[in-house]
Amino acid sequence: MTTTRPVTRPADAGQNADTAALEADLLDGFFDDPPTVPPRWFYDETGSLLFDQITRLDEYYPTRAEAQILRTRAAGIVGDATTVVELGAGSCEKTRVLLDELAGRGAGRWAGRDVGATDVPRPRFVPVDISAEMLAESARALATEYPGLGIEPVVGDLTALDGPLPGEPGRRLVLFLGGTVGNFTESQRAGFLSMVRGLLAPGDRFAMGFDLVKDPGRLVAAYDDARGVTAEFNLNMLDVISRTVDCHGLRRRDFRHQSVWNAGESRIEMWLRAVRDVRVEFPTLGLARTLAAGEGIRTEIARKFEPDALAAELASHGFTRPTVWRDEGRDFGMVLVVVE
Ligand code: AVJ
Repeated sequence: MTTTRPVTRPADAGQNADTAALEADLLDGFFDDPPTVPPRWFYDETGSLLFDQITRLDEYYPTRAEAQILRTRAAGIVGDATTVVELGAGSCEKTRVLLDELAGRGAGRWAGRDVGATDVPRPRFVPVDISAEMLAESARALATEYPGLGIEPVVGDLTALDGPLPGEPGRRLVLFLGGTVGNFTESQRAGFLSMVRGLLAPGDRFAMGFDLVKDPGRLVAAYDDARGVTAEFNLNMLDVISRTVDCHGLRRRDFRHQSVWNAGESRIEMWLRAVRDVRVEFPTLGLARTLAAGEGIRTEIARKFEPDALAAELASHGFTRPTVWRDEGRDFGMVLVVVE
């Protein structure tokens, strides 16, 4: 993957890259109506820890529901793959159940087979993530935990990967978990799916976790929990922006967290609403913008899907033979498709 960076690089190179990338994102969306900032800016160290807490909240069902699908369907998902690539791997926590399968430790297809034989190529796991630090850490842990797997981490922006992908064409499985596909707009999603298709060869497979349309009350609560962890997660983005670029006026006390169900677009939206008139200045960019009390910054969309429509969309990008699994509570879905 030629656009990706090696796993080790100087810390300040990362900082400069972040500054440039956030400035580009602000120029792209902060001066629109409504102003938007992409959700990738939630995930500094604090934000990643807060997201970890979110995944354990009563209200936030997606992580548990997806884990249940992975646990019960691991063999079907891994199939005969010899290379598993995970896009946005993060801590690789939920992927372990699939790696057990890939490494031949699971109760599935590898059981009883001599995976140590020299004529059987060593299966590999390729975690791809934008966060070099987290990736290096999880890769180290995985290498110890799975001596039978080749662990080949790649630092990269999962919306801008270009091939060739490691592994044997036709025997690769690409994973995109967590329901993160919901963070894309329609056109970003189309771009993403055609990028993934472009990385793959006929017979390769693609598995994607997605959240299902359900009662709006539960959806809103999943993004606005009683303990205020999601509010903290959202407000933390103001700190990330203020620290990463030259900026004045993004003060936490001037904003409140809001989770809204947009029925027309079938998505949850997270907003930071100004509680009074706020003037935000970016001296280096030479730009400023005033938000009137009640105006908001949209920090995330989380699209909820109908499985048939999603399968049809995948088909239009060259992914066929869909298998859809749901958790027992029917809250969350996993779709597995094959490249034609
Ligand atoms: C990690 C993107 C799947 O959209 O549900 C959780 C992020 N934001 N609570 C989601 C998130 C607020 C999460 N994804």
